[in-house]
Amino acid sequence: MMLADPSKKYRRMYQRVDLPNRQWPNNEINKAPIWMSTDLRDGNQAIFEPMNIEQKFKMFQMLVKIGFKHIEIGFPSASQVDFDFTRKLIEENHIPEDVYIEVLVQARDHLIARTFESLQGAKRAIVHIYNSNSPTFRKKVLNVDANGAKQLAINAATKVKEYAAKQPETDFIFQYSPECFSATELEVAKDVCDAVTEIWEASADNKVILNLPATVEVSGPHVYADQIEWMHRNLQRRDGVIISVHCHNDRGCGIAASELAIMAGADRVEGCVFGNGERTGNVDVAAIALNMYTQGVAPELDFSNINEIIATVEECTGLPVHPRHPYAGDLVFTAFSGSHQDAIKKGFEFQKNEEIWDMPYLPIDPRDLGRDYDAVIRVNSQSGKGGIAYLLEANYNVVLPRRLQVEFSQVVQQVADDEGVEVTAKQIWDLFTNTYVAAKDAHYSTKNYKLSDENGSQVIELDVVVNGEIQHLRGEGNGPISAILNALQLPIDVVNYEERSISSGANAKALALIELQVQGAGKSAFGAGVHDNIVTSSIDAIIAATNRLIDQGLLKKDQVAAAV
Ligand code: KIV
Ligand code: ZN
Repeated sequence: MMLADPSKKYRRMYQRVDLPNRQWPNNEINKAPIWMSTDLRDGNQAIFEPMNIEQKFKMFQMLVKIGFKHIEIGFPSASQVDFDFTRKLIEENHIPEDVYIEVLVQARDHLIARTFESLQGAKRAIVHIYNSNSPTFRKKVLNVDANGAKQLAINAATKVKEYAAKQPETDFIFQYSPECFSATELEVAKDVCDAVTEIWEASADNKVILNLPATVEVSGPHVYADQIEWMHRNLQRRDGVIISVHCHNDRGCGIAASELAIMAGADRVEGCVFGNGERTGNVDVAAIALNMYTQGVAPELDFSNINEIIATVEECTGLPVHPRHPYAGDLVFTAFSGSHQDAIKKGFEFQKNEEIWDMPYLPIDPRDLGRDYDAVIRVNSQSGKGGIAYLLEANYNVVLPRRLQVEFSQVVQQVADDEGVEVTAKQIWDLFTNTYVAAKDAHYSTKNYKLSDENGSQVIELDVVVNGEIQHLRGEGNGPISAILNALQLPIDVVNYEERSISSGANAKALALIELQVQGAGKSAFGAGVHDNIVTSSIDAIIAATNRLIDQGLLKKDQVAAAV
C-alpha cells in the first residue's frame, strides 16, 4: 500500500501573502513577550478528564508562581466547574494584584451575559471572544459570507462593551480572536479585527488584544510569520493593539511559528506550559521561554524548579511529560553514547572555570532548571570509557588513569552487553572493586605489616600468606612502594602508581592504583587498594596487581611462592 497521490486530495489551505520586503528574518528576539497561559482552558479542553476545581486551583497557583500575568482560567459560560472556579478565585481573593484572569466566550449574547456573571467582583479580567472567519468555517459551519462572520464579531464586541460598562469596579481588557486566522484571507481577518478595535476604541491608553491563532497549523512557520508581519503593518489603531499569537502544533512547528511571529511583531504569546492542548497541542511555552533563556534573554518566567512543575502538570492533566520533551523530559540531559559522554566529560573540565555556558551536547545547564548532573551521563551498551570514568569521578571522586579507563571499560561493556540494561554508578564501582580491589585475596595476601624509617630509608616488615602459611618478609626502599616490592622480591616493575582520596559512602578513604609489569614480558596488570591508611591501600594494590598478573598467566604462582 502506498500513500494516495496528494495532489488529488490536498491543497494549500492558507493565503501566501506577498511581502517582498519582509523584516522578520532580520529581527532577533531580545525581550520576553507578554505570556498567556491557556493551560486551564485550551489545555483543559483537551484532556480525558477535565480538571476539577482542586486541580484547577493547584495549576493556577503553579502558573502564578511561574510568573504568568495573563491566565486563561476557563470557559465559564460552557462549564459549571469553570464558572464555580472563577467565582472561587474572585470570592476567596486568590488573584494577585498583577495578574489578569482571562475567560473565553463564543461571540453569542447569552454566553457573554453568563460570562460577565462569572466575573462579578473581579478586580481585573480579560474577556476573550472569538469566532471563525475562515472560508471553510464560513461555508461549512456558519453558512455566512465574510461580512456575516464580521457581523457576529461586531455584535459580540458591542455586547462585551455594554456588559463591561455595567461593571465599573473591574479593570477589563478585551480580547478578540479571529479563530482559524492563519487559514483566513488576510484582508478578511484585518477587516474584522479593525471593526472590533473600532468598537472597543482601541488606543495607546486602552489597549485591546487581537489574538491571531493558528487554530490548526496549516502552513510552515515562515508563512505564519509573513501573515503576522502583514497584520502588524496593516492593522488600524496598531498602537492600541496587543498582537497575540496562539499556535497549535499540527505540523510540529508551533514553537518555530511563535518565535518567528515574535520576530514579525507579535507582542504576546499564548500556550500551555508543556504544550498540552487540542490535538497535537498548543505551543509549549516552557520551550519558548527556555529557548530565550539559552540565548541570554530573560524570559520572565521561572522554570528553576522544573521537576515540581512537571509533577503538577502531570497530576492535573493526567498526561505524562515525554522523556525526550525539550528541557523537561527525564532523558534530555542524559548521554548514553560513548562519544557524547566523552565530549561532555571534557566539556565539564573547561566549564568549571568559565562563566558562559558552552558545553558539548548540553544547550542549557541542567542546574538552572533545578536538575543535578547525576543523570547527565548514564551507561549502557552504547557507552564508552568517558561515561564510566565520569560516573566514577562524579559519584566516588575516583579518577582512573587513561590506560585503566580503557581496560576497565571493557569489563563494564561486557556486563552491559550481557545484561542489556543500564549499569548504574554503584554497579560500576562494585565491578571496579570486584575486579581490581578484591584481587588482593586471590592467590596470596598480606596480614600485618610495620613500616619504619631507618637512617632515611623506609623499612617494611610484612606478613604474607602463601599457600595457607604466613611468611615474614622484610624490605627496604626509598619509599613504601619500593620497600614493599623489595620485600616481595618478584621480577616486577611499577609502570604507574597513583594515590587519591575517594568518597565511598560517608567516609573519605585512600585509593591506591598501581600498574605492575613483569620484567622483560612487556605486559602489565592493574591493581587497586582502598583503605583508611594509604600504606595499607598501597600494599593491597600491589598484592592485587600481582595476583592479577598470576591470573593472566604473566607470573607463575610457584614463582611467587619461591620468591617469598
Ligand atoms: O485555537 C484557537 O483558535 C483557540 C481560540 C479560541 C483562540 O483556541
Ligand atoms: Zn487554541
